[in-house]
Amino acid sequence: MTTYQTGFGNHFATEAIPGALPIGRNSPQKPAFGLYAEQLSGTAFTAPRHENRRSWLYRLRPSAAHPAFTRYEGAPLFAPGQSQAPLAPNRLRWDPLDVQDADWLDSLTTMLVAGDGPKTQTGVAMHLYRCAKDMRNRAFASADGELLILPEQGALTLLTELGRIDVKPGEIALIPRGVRFRVTLPDGPARGYVAENHGQPFRLPDLGPIGANGLANPRDFETPVAWFEDVEGDYELVQKFLGKLWTTNLGRSPLDVVAWHGNYAPWKYDLTRFNTIGSISFDHPDPSIFTVLTSPSDVPGTANVDFVIFPPRWLVAEDTFRPPWFHRNTMSECMGLLYGAYDAKADGFVPGALSLHNQMSGHGPDVASWQGASKAELKPHKLDGTMAFMIESRWVFTPTDFALETSALDADYDQAWDGFPKAVLP
Ligand SMILES: [Fe+2]
Repeated sequence: MTTYQTGFGNHFATEAIPGALPIGRNSPQKPAFGLYAEQLSGTAFTAPRHENRRSWLYRLRPSAAHPAFTRYEGAPLFAPGQSQAPLAPNRLRWDPLDVQDADWLDSLTTMLVAGDGPKTQTGVAMHLYRCAKDMRNRAFASADGELLILPEQGALTLLTELGRIDVKPGEIALIPRGVRFRVTLPDGPARGYVAENHGQPFRLPDLGPIGANGLANPRDFETPVAWFEDVEGDYELVQKFLGKLWTTNLGRSPLDVVAWHGNYAPWKYDLTRFNTIGSISFDHPDPSIFTVLTSPSDVPGTANVDFVIFPPRWLVAEDTFRPPWFHRNTMSECMGLLYGAYDAKADGFVPGALSLHNQMSGHGPDVASWQGASKAELKPHKLDGTMAFMIESRWVFTPTDFALETSALDADYDQAWDGFPKAVLP
């Protein structure tokens, strides 16, 4: 049974062995049991207090103790960089990828890269995982960004430096930049999405006139209590650094944190707890009303990346075309589907699929969805059993070579908007 502490960005304190956590100081001369005190900073030391994130870890050995890293040759489709071919302004869509006989790490497949990436700490990358094996005696960490993990099929157990998280489809989890973890599969094969945020850490959006409550409420985020494994012997650590993968043998598990305190920690969140807010009069609101998390850029109101969901909700708007409208957008939009059906596409967009509508690409409902919604009787209607999401960025997404070459790429996607009848003027 995994237990959690609740609240978004709270200052937590937890110990797996009573007495392991120092009281009243961070770095005593002799921590309990000979543990090593170590600060893990997720923001600059001097970041404003309300944005400052750091945790103090008390561990069996300092994480500094390791041999040099060498290039990692596994995970052949993970972090290859974006294609160097000129990027056409096409709308793109991919069918789900097959599960591989690999663990979570080696199955990671990078599809899209937006922004300059880890070098300038901007942008976001979209990866897919599709795995059938546990990560054993090896762990992973990304120095390039925090990892937002969205299971689509099968559960994951995330064994992290700061505790255990069990996450299943419909829930999401976040591993902060630099935190080491491994992934096991309690229910067998698993598939899902990973958004790697290279920019400012995700935070809850401001609510403005909505008020003090609504959308994702802070108390629903769950952070694990301290947990550790005491494992000696061969243990690989793979680290992503400046877009490349590196490996070293630690000779012990890095998941050896016996106690910790602070506000820089992994969490999970049940998307069904999102307090969805929408129109009770007319017009489909801008989808920003569905923002779960945001990573700001240096331009106010223009996100490095927003994480947005389209959850079950009542549609009641009068004299309104109720699905998402046709639009072109200065932001770039990458979408996935966790379960159910998405209301702007009648077919071709199934759970596990991925779509891309880059900056200023015209998109919106397909012909069948438009026809249905244009004729529908406007009585209250519950959209149920569905969970689509969007990773939206001010930066254009560039597909990887794999994404452009895979047979999962839908060659006929443009036909979704083919065949609209011409308007008839008086
Ligand atoms: Fe859109």
